[in-house]
Amino acid sequence: MKKSLILPVTGLFIAVSTPLLAVEVTPQTKATAVAGRLNLEMRKKLTLAIQQNGLAGSLNVCAKEAPAVIADLEKQFGVTIKRTALRLRNPANAPDAAEKQLLEKLDGMVKRGEPLPQDAALFSDSVSGKIRTLRFAKPVMMQANCVGCHGPTEKIPADVKQALAAGYPKDKAVGFKEGELRGIISITVKEDIPEDKEKK
Ligand code: HEC
Repeated sequence: MKKSLILPVTGLFIAVSTPLLAVEVTPQTKATAVAGRLNLEMRKKLTLAIQQNGLAGSLNVCAKEAPAVIADLEKQFGVTIKRTALRLRNPANAPDAAEKQLLEKLDGMVKRGEPLPQDAALFSDSVSGKIRTLRFAKPVMMQANCVGCHGPTEKIPADVKQALAAGYPKDKAVGFKEGELRGIISITVKEDIPEDKEKK
């Protein structure tokens, strides 16, 4: 189980970070690698923190460590990363119009039992001056180890509820069941448009 989770992600990462393999690094493969790494890091950190500090002592993993991992990946890959969702815990993670539209579409697909794309999927492509902006999203699914903090209220321990009420008075990110769409990782890749292409 563990192996099958880790291998595809590291595989992608190697493809991106090792030019010798002659794999073309497209914005899409980059975004997919970034999303995979963020998912993997968060899963690792959450599992470890919950083991060491219990659930109520692990709130800062989703709150503080996610931004730290994101900042690291942004620097390493030269992209912008955001975690967003339709029902939010932290209002600062609110989706913009394009993200909201995509979230609604993906949520509908999950509810109808349709499979979601595995890779980071392109949802916006625009050009401004000499810069092309490509936006990708990877679904974030509710898993068993998210239930204690994002699940139905009866599955959230009293001390976690208390900590959440104190830190997030407007919390809407509860009541999710395993397998539902929790949100997306939204990745923005900017590319310079080469001069010659511009003139033609
Ligand atoms: C220990 C409690 C805890 C666990 C377990 C947990 N989260 Fe969170 N989650 C939080 C907190 C606290 C926030 C608010 C973070 C912030 O302040 O930006 C959050 C925020 C988020 C957000 C950002 C959007 C929003 O609502 O603000 C996503 C996406 C998310 N969690 C997904 C997950 C997923 C997927 C899992 C399981 C793999 C998970 N979380 C497990 C506590 C938790």
